[in-house]
Amino acid sequence: MVDLLLGLQWGDEGKGKIVDVLTKNYDIIARFQGGPNAGHTLIFDGNKHVLHTIPSGIFHDKALNIVGNGVVIDPVIFQKELEDLEKYNIDFKSKLFISRKAHIILPTHRLLDAASETAKGKAKIGSTLKGIGPTYMDKTGRNGIRIGDLELENWKDKYDALTKKHLKMLDFFEVDIQFDLKELENQFCKAVDILKQLTFIDSEAYLFNAMQADKTILAEGAQGSLLDIDFGTYPYVTSSNTTAAGACTGLGVAPSKIGKVFGIFKAYTTRVGSGPFPTELFDEDGKTMAKVGQEFGATTGRPRRCGWLDLVALKYTVQVNGVTQLNMMKGDVLSGFDTIKICTSYQYKGKEITHLPYNIEPENVSVNYTEFKGWQADLTKMDSADQLPKNLITYIDFIEKELQVPIKIVSVGPDRKQTIFR
Ligand code: IMP
Repeated sequence: MVDLLLGLQWGDEGKGKIVDVLTKNYDIIARFQGGPNAGHTLIFDGNKHVLHTIPSGIFHDKALNIVGNGVVIDPVIFQKELEDLEKYNIDFKSKLFISRKAHIILPTHRLLDAASETAKGKAKIGSTLKGIGPTYMDKTGRNGIRIGDLELENWKDKYDALTKKHLKMLDFFEVDIQFDLKELENQFCKAVDILKQLTFIDSEAYLFNAMQADKTILAEGAQGSLLDIDFGTYPYVTSSNTTAAGACTGLGVAPSKIGKVFGIFKAYTTRVGSGPFPTELFDEDGKTMAKVGQEFGATTGRPRRCGWLDLVALKYTVQVNGVTQLNMMKGDVLSGFDTIKICTSYQYKGKEITHLPYNIEPENVSVNYTEFKGWQADLTKMDSADQLPKNLITYIDFIEKELQVPIKIVSVGPDRKQTIFR
């Protein structure tokens, strides 16, 4: 069976930390979608690491790490990630496998991303500008270059033809994007040579055989369910299926082989980039969450927008993913608030509703809150569930009851050790 770990909000829920905590239970950790737009932060032994494409099992002795077919890979960023991990003496050849069917982000994909965003002006998505959208467009348009192509003699011809086409497309946008293609291509080709030293596999066959041999597998989601290309707040979303179904297509795993589904959410809500966010705060409470929670994007460094927990949206993503257990992150950030709010329904077209409607822009919905008494205790030194303050337990119990799914892990700080199991 394959267990799934997914973010239930707009990304940045703390998936990297929980994968890291859970890795000891798994033989294989596999990424199934997204690419270097992700930033999974892991903190242990006083060190902080941000992974973008490499699965979060890479620091564990035994876990094997797979980058699945649904992921898009930028060789230049991948090379940098490998270099950043050099001091750990990891044997990448035997611990990190890449699917031949994963698509490659070309330098011109990044340029197209920038041109598209610039051309959109105020309506921009707020993309991380890593070339994610254009690469998935080439995948579905059946023009993409895949990792397996790098094993062919003529991959450079394919590359040249696609780059030529991209340059023509760039003209179409009529925006001023400065670049030195020669320099970008030099970096790209050097990075491809490094990538080619790794092990390429047919990951669907590999995982099938692993399951036959009773290996335990954890699929690590990137971004969050509200950024899903189908079920997220379209068009302000990423270009892949971040929800549970994405793990099947992004790894080649049959739906009947999915086991537990771990849903990760923050005790409040954050969002980077543009798009609707019904519980967003523009007051001191929002600023406090941003400051205490250090809410800056792990990939772009952009400040994250902050707001109260949105149970309407969370219920929706729990349903879409079939979540079997919940992990609540960053409860410690809410310590010190006198009152804590949870959005339990929306006002939509004059009616109170508890489901996520098609439009959640501010002109369509306003939020109704249920209020809770805050807690003052510092949670970061706590290590067992019986130490948690009463008001926090009330908060957790309420969420569990509303979502009908148990909250099994409460994270009380970024370190691997700051994790309370219930
Ligand atoms: P893209 O995937 O880089 O094109 O970005 C599309 C939208 O998804 C933007 O609003 C980004 O800020 C957001 N996004 C992409 N990746 C992440 C992530 O890993 N965490 C949070 N937001 C993300």
